[in-house]
Amino acid sequence: MNNGMKSEVVVITGASAGVGRATAQAFARQGAMVGLIARGREGLEGARKDVESLGGKGLALPADVARYDEVESAAAAVEKEFGPIDIWVNNAMTTVFSPFREIKPEEYKRATEVTYLGAVYGTMAALKNMLPRNQGCIVQVGSALAYRSIPLQAPYCGAKHAIRGFTDSLRSELLHDQSGIHLTMVHMPALNTPQFNWCKTRLPRHPKPVPPIFQPEVAAEAIVWAAHHRRREVYVGRSTVKAIWGNKVAPGILDRYLAATGYDAQQTREPVSADRPSNLFEPLPGDPGAHGIFDAEAADRSIQFWETSHRPWTALAGVGLAAMACFAYWKRIR
Ligand SMILES: NC(=O)c1ccc[n+]([C@@H]2O[C@H](COP(=O)([O-])OP(=O)(O)OC[C@H]3O[C@@H](n4cnc5c(N)ncnc54)[C@H](OP(=O)(O)O)[C@@H]3O)[C@@H](O)[C@H]2O)c1
Repeated sequence: MNNGMKSEVVVITGASAGVGRATAQAFARQGAMVGLIARGREGLEGARKDVESLGGKGLALPADVARYDEVESAAAAVEKEFGPIDIWVNNAMTTVFSPFREIKPEEYKRATEVTYLGAVYGTMAALKNMLPRNQGCIVQVGSALAYRSIPLQAPYCGAKHAIRGFTDSLRSELLHDQSGIHLTMVHMPALNTPQFNWCKTRLPRHPKPVPPIFQPEVAAEAIVWAAHHRRREVYVGRSTVKAIWGNKVAPGILDRYLAATGYDAQQTREPVSADRPSNLFEPLPGDPGAHGIFDAEAADRSIQFWETSHRPWTALAGVGLAAMACFAYWKRIR
């Protein structure tokens, strides 16, 4: 609930599966009214049912985020049904797992249009509604790979870097205009979602997220938190922090480390066919739900995220530990 006054109106792109699906569930638990954007009707219907069963209201909005007109119409439908949009989450993605040299130009274009331009168009549609009211929050779902690119994921890494680039530009414009609209980006670690089952691949073995892997609910909790706090960016997972800072300090060493480890780390032992059905151009049938196939390996919480979202407690614990260390040292030298 919004300050205990009214239910928040939230729009999530890519709401039928993975992180978007878990985020819709998390907002629904707070009683939100959630506009659910994706293409696959069965997944959208599943998401709508989740939201309703968890105490929220859901509106399924079949749309392709690579088409601005469809995103704009979806936003208008949400405002008509639920009222002014408070929070907009740009989450939809697709990619091609492949060595760059094997990707076809039309595949690269499509992955970029969905993952990068989808976030740009979502932001445009959100601002169209939020600017006249001078309030609202836009959350970009980012990744450690928005800072540190890895092999076999050029379209995705390029798109995630691009989202960060345009977001920083827009943030400065909003600050220049003294806008009341908040723009934030939440950088995620590897997550157990359906993307590894249905994104286009040319790898010989089944794609997988680079461990450590977290459940999509960890990402959802961070997105909901970021939508209600005024942080510029939020990092989720110690692996994300390490990738971002490691790349600032020693990018060349990481290039070589990833060249040596990045191929194996992104594939299971199972062979996969290059012509398996993919969601690159069209949605796949069925309701994918939030989780992928890595439940057994995935952590359901991040201590690092708890620390970053509870800074006063983390600082207090740090001071306490430092005091104990000083006391132990003083006792030893005495
Ligand atoms: N999984 C990870 O390891 C990981 C790590 C870091 C960050 N992230 C971020 O988390 C976010 C979600 O990723 P995910 O892993 O949850 O992906 P996912 O499981 O593949 O889900 C993608 C969602 O986007 C929708 N979508 C795909 N193409 C679309 C299009 N053209 N128009 C509208 N919707 C479209 C899909 O539904 P339809 O196909 O039915 O349209 C689905 O709802 C992304 O921003 C990603 O960068 C993920």
